[in-house]
Amino acid sequence: MAEQTDTAPRATSNRSTTPGSDTFKRYIGSEWAERTDILPASREEAPFAAARRARLSAAYPGKRLVIPAGRLKQRSNDTDFPFRANTAFTYLTGWGSDSEPGSVLVLEPADGGGHEASLYFRERAGRDSDEFYANPEIGEFWIGPRPSLAQVASDLGLETLGIAGLDAVVASSDENTLVLRDADPELTLLLDIAVEQATTGQATTGQQDEAALPAITSSPRAEEADTASGSESLEQKLSEMRLVKDEYEIAQMRLAVAATARGFDDIIADLPRITSHERGERLVEGVFNGRARADGNAVGYDTIAASGPHACILHWTRNDGPVVPGDLILIDAGVELDSYYTADITRTLPVDGRFGDEQRMIYEAVREAADAAFAIVRPGIRFREIHATAMGVIAQKTAEWGLLPVTAEEAIEPENQQHRRYMVHGTSHHLGLDVHDCAKARREMYLDGVLEAGMVFTIEPGLYFQPDDLTVPESFRGIGVRIEDDILVTATGAENLSAAIPRTADEVEAWIAAAASKR
Ligand code: GLY
Ligand code: MN
Ligand code: MN
Repeated sequence: MAEQTDTAPRATSNRSTTPGSDTFKRYIGSEWAERTDILPASREEAPFAAARRARLSAAYPGKRLVIPAGRLKQRSNDTDFPFRANTAFTYLTGWGSDSEPGSVLVLEPADGGGHEASLYFRERAGRDSDEFYANPEIGEFWIGPRPSLAQVASDLGLETLGIAGLDAVVASSDENTLVLRDADPELTLLLDIAVEQATTGQATTGQQDEAALPAITSSPRAEEADTASGSESLEQKLSEMRLVKDEYEIAQMRLAVAATARGFDDIIADLPRITSHERGERLVEGVFNGRARADGNAVGYDTIAASGPHACILHWTRNDGPVVPGDLILIDAGVELDSYYTADITRTLPVDGRFGDEQRMIYEAVREAADAAFAIVRPGIRFREIHATAMGVIAQKTAEWGLLPVTAEEAIEPENQQHRRYMVHGTSHHLGLDVHDCAKARREMYLDGVLEAGMVFTIEPGLYFQPDDLTVPESFRGIGVRIEDDILVTATGAENLSAAIPRTADEVEAWIAAAASKR
């Protein structure tokens, strides 16, 4: 069995110049100051993560639950993508951007009921190994020091163990082990093999075809297990647990929205430089992302800076066009905090500071759709009603403008939907640790689900008139508008977390004018 302690083969061995002599090894391994292991106070999120683990534990009595953080993913050769821990792992540990690749949370059934949680990770290497200077993938001289087991235990309020200990977990896994399968395919395969051995007594090491192995959470055994504990898979359960945010999560969402607002303000302040550059969209992206980084954050998804007709391309992230006065620019961007909570906000701006008559009419129609949808949000309604309400306005407006071959009432019939030609996407998605949060929740909990206080989602209607759409007047062609806000369901209604970022056409014009007057 491949051990968890293995390190990946060195991709750079053909150009390595690391000295290999014993003299060098002895020399570089000597005369290092004692490390002082300062133990941090438990982080603010720790008790919330503990409460989440307790909820998960209650749903899976007697089951060993394995929740990997995932590993580094290769970008090319020996270069990796920035590490991003699995969302459920972060939810259950509170370990976000500072988490260690390859870490694994294990909830072990306890004798007296419930579970004991252990976090396995690759702790700091000693100076007696060559890892710290000779291993570009995990060495301290290359990627920085890793925390000690004691530091992470104190920080997260969790028992911590070295990654080597995971081998024993794998070896003792049986049909009572459930793993979050998509987080770490390599570990999942090892667990599948171990479960196969435990249940059939067959040794199955060697060249294994993953498809031929019983999948831990999708096997008949696992389905039985899931029925006993709820009927949903671990992935589903963890997505559905996140539908209602706790107090810590809501506070993080407010911070993410506030940080996003600063990025939008910086874009507005920089519009003259942006319009004078041949790739102004790149500058928009750079200004937003730069502000996020300067504030100590990241972005939750690739920033969309879509000027003129690019606004009609829903996921325009190439961002290589100019930003031309007279056009609108659609900017969809969200700051992600160290905790991984992200905002997801869109504003559509007149590049020269004033909406043209048709631009304004289209913009305000989208805003009316957003406002109508927001107005119905309260606990007890169904998620799908938000979209239906927004679409009622979109159908009415596009019918009024003579774009539809039928009336608005006919268009909204399920078998018609002509108005959707101009807005093919949905109006809302849950938001939190992931920009498209709770992605594995069942439809009956998501689109058909009933709203509860503490849910956070977007409301993001739009109208997009493609440059070659013959059903719309020529003057509409190439105009794309979306307004996207982040909404919190409260006990009695809803709060627009992003309401402070100008939304109405008048507010947007005043925002741009105020920035211009400060130059
Ligand atoms: N930014 C992606 C979305 O709005 O869903
Ligand atoms: Mn969105
Ligand atoms: Mn968005």
